[in-house]
Amino acid sequence: VDLYKKKHQLLLQEKKLFEINRNLQFEINDRRASEEKIVELNKQLIKHVDHLEKANKDLDRFAFMASHDLQEPLRKILTFSGRVYSRAAGALDSESLMDLKRIQKATLRMKNLIQDILTFSTLTTQQDNFVKSDMRALVCEAVEDLHEIISEKKAVIEVSPLPLLSVYPGLMRPLFVNLISNALKYSKPDVPPQISIYQDEASQATGAVSGNRYCRIYIKDNGIGFDQRYSEQIFEMFKRLHSQSQYEGTGIGLALCKHIVEQHEGFINVMSKPGEGSTFILSFPLEVSNADGKSESCN
Ligand SMILES: Nc1ncnc2c1ncn2[C@@H]1O[C@H](COP(=O)(O)OP(=O)(O)O)[C@@H](O)[C@H]1O
Ligand SMILES: [Mg+2]
Repeated sequence: VDLYKKKHQLLLQEKKLFEINRNLQFEINDRRASEEKIVELNKQLIKHVDHLEKANKDLDRFAFMASHDLQEPLRKILTFSGRVYSRAAGALDSESLMDLKRIQKATLRMKNLIQDILTFSTLTTQQDNFVKSDMRALVCEAVEDLHEIISEKKAVIEVSPLPLLSVYPGLMRPLFVNLISNALKYSKPDVPPQISIYQDEASQATGAVSGNRYCRIYIKDNGIGFDQRYSEQIFEMFKRLHSQSQYEGTGIGLALCKHIVEQHEGFINVMSKPGEGSTFILSFPLEVSNADGKSESCN
């Protein structure tokens, strides 16, 4: 009887084992199916990324071609309206003269817009490599580009020693030119712009993935400032807080800056208050530590 019981138990166990085995087989099949699905999805993803990259390139090329080709007729409008102005200014009534001036002003504005779009589109197609660069030297190059407006506005620009960072050097000039020219442009009337550019290492930049180390570069001005609630919007393409009649501009500059910083896997943020100036903060992935030294103006 015992033997019979044991046999019966063994049979039951075998049945159970068989059942478990079957389930395991099902599970393995399921896993295999999911794995195959993942591989398939991955393939699709790669295809989509390729497609997106191509679409992006096409868009850049389109922006480049469009803005490049639009420049020519615009140049003609400027030239010929200028000629009409100088030839017939005496013969025209004041209203017509005013209209002619408006045409020229709008054309100039369009020229600036097109130039900025062109800069934006060529940035993304640019192929130069990351180079370990002295950021202070690059800032000083940008300051040099702006020397006319700097002396016109009697601005004081102080640049502290900055670190060596791996960057696309060609992209640093438009980045700093845009930020510094904003600091000069959005200054308080009758207050000479005071701009400081300095650094601070932070273990974690705003919005950064933890563990990564970033170097922050600050661009601080004593200008008109703005409400902090616009601190994200101002980096959007064509977004402006000030009217064209108050301060001329295209609203592309900061979108360009954001794009450049993001190409370096960095971040751009701003702190501002109306009437109390603005501080733009660039966070770059940290590569090499900096040299010590005192703040000086470039030259
Ligand atoms: N340093 C600054 N101080 C105050 N406002 C600024 C500053 N920089 C940018 N802004 C605001 O952000 C907007 C977007 O700047 P930007 O993209 O450079 O365009 P633009 O200078 O052509 O208007 C500006 O129109 C201005 O309202
Ligand atoms: Mg600007």
